[in-house]
Amino acid sequence: APALPRLPEAPAAHTVLNLREYETIARGLLDPIFYDYVAGGARDEVTVRANEHGFARLGLLPRMLRGSDTRDLGVTLFGTPSSLPVFLSPTAFHRLAHPDGELATARAAAKAGVIMTVGMASTTSVADVAAAARQAVPDRAPALWFQLYLQPDMAVTRALVRRAEAAGCTALLVTVDSPVLGIHERNKRNGFNDLPPGVVCENLRDLTGSEPGHIRQIAMSADLGWDHLDRLREMTSLPVVLKGVLHPEDGRIAVAHGVDGLLLSNHGGRQLDTAPATVDLLPDMLAAVAGRVPVLLDGGVRRGTDVVKALALGATAVGIGRPVVYGLAAGGEDGVRHVVDLLREEIDHTLALCGATAPRDLTPDLVRTVPAVP
Ligand code: FNR
Repeated sequence: APALPRLPEAPAAHTVLNLREYETIARGLLDPIFYDYVAGGARDEVTVRANEHGFARLGLLPRMLRGSDTRDLGVTLFGTPSSLPVFLSPTAFHRLAHPDGELATARAAAKAGVIMTVGMASTTSVADVAAAARQAVPDRAPALWFQLYLQPDMAVTRALVRRAEAAGCTALLVTVDSPVLGIHERNKRNGFNDLPPGVVCENLRDLTGSEPGHIRQIAMSADLGWDHLDRLREMTSLPVVLKGVLHPEDGRIAVAHGVDGLLLSNHGGRQLDTAPATVDLLPDMLAAVAGRVPVLLDGGVRRGTDVVKALALGATAVGIGRPVVYGLAAGGEDGVRHVVDLLREEIDHTLALCGATAPRDLTPDLVRTVPAVP
């Protein structure tokens, strides 16, 4: 197994101008095997590229002279307030990126007032993550969601749900796009198939098996059906958000099964390669759901303009995955904080230029399909 990454020197924040620069910095700091794990995707990585390209093929058509000097970027998502229409999507194994791991991410998210999704495959327990968030901002309840791979063993599912509830998580993101794991040829080439010694999936401790917290305890099962979701639904009063549905018909079925929201996601191109860009699928999904539940989106969001495009098309909020891990690798808590703050400034600036004062002012007519600019 590869060694833990060396502790990176935090770059002076003012020298980093945008999220893509954080990828370049992280690439220079991370063990190449871990960088490939984060940056890579399934097979030819067509979907990885498609997500960003989807945003590049949309232009923003601004409105003028609407006369307002104040903007409010805040939204409330399933009862949890967020200072931005952006949340941290779940990403596994933060201790591969930085020794402080998920604790650093949680502190940054709490101080920035955005929601962090704690992955089932986090390398710090959800209880410890919640404690770090509470400590970082004592006067506010931690804004944490918990991501769960739907498990065939309902006892394991129940134990994980209880851990998330006990930690104070306010929603469950249930990932359903992984009946089998995506094949990442970079990981195969690098021989990366185990976590380094001492790094384990803390949420899985004492659940099953003889190897506590071993990644192989996460069951990927192609045998799961909508009835499993129904049983999860009965298990908790937390809002349930389904992550990874792409087909509009699945959106309709999910709503019929009582989900509280959808996260339109192709797992950042890490599961089915050649799945379309999420932003291209958004209009059809919104039509299928017809306003019955909020639709969130992730995949390829790297700029405030990307966020504004997704919101204008009708998404309630968007998630960021890789940029968080890159910020973490580059500067621990400060790096994640800076990633969120860069996005905040860009969204605010974009709203001003579009003549909007809040996400609710954004409408689909502001978005036009344009030829891709080289
Ligand atoms: C992920 N993602 C993910 N999703 C999930 O439901 N459970 C998980 O454990 C993980 N783990 C994970 C690790 C890493 C390193 C990455 C990059 C991604 C997918 C993630 O939640 C999200 O859907 C995508 O990352 C969004 O795309 P961008 O923002 O990375 O382009």
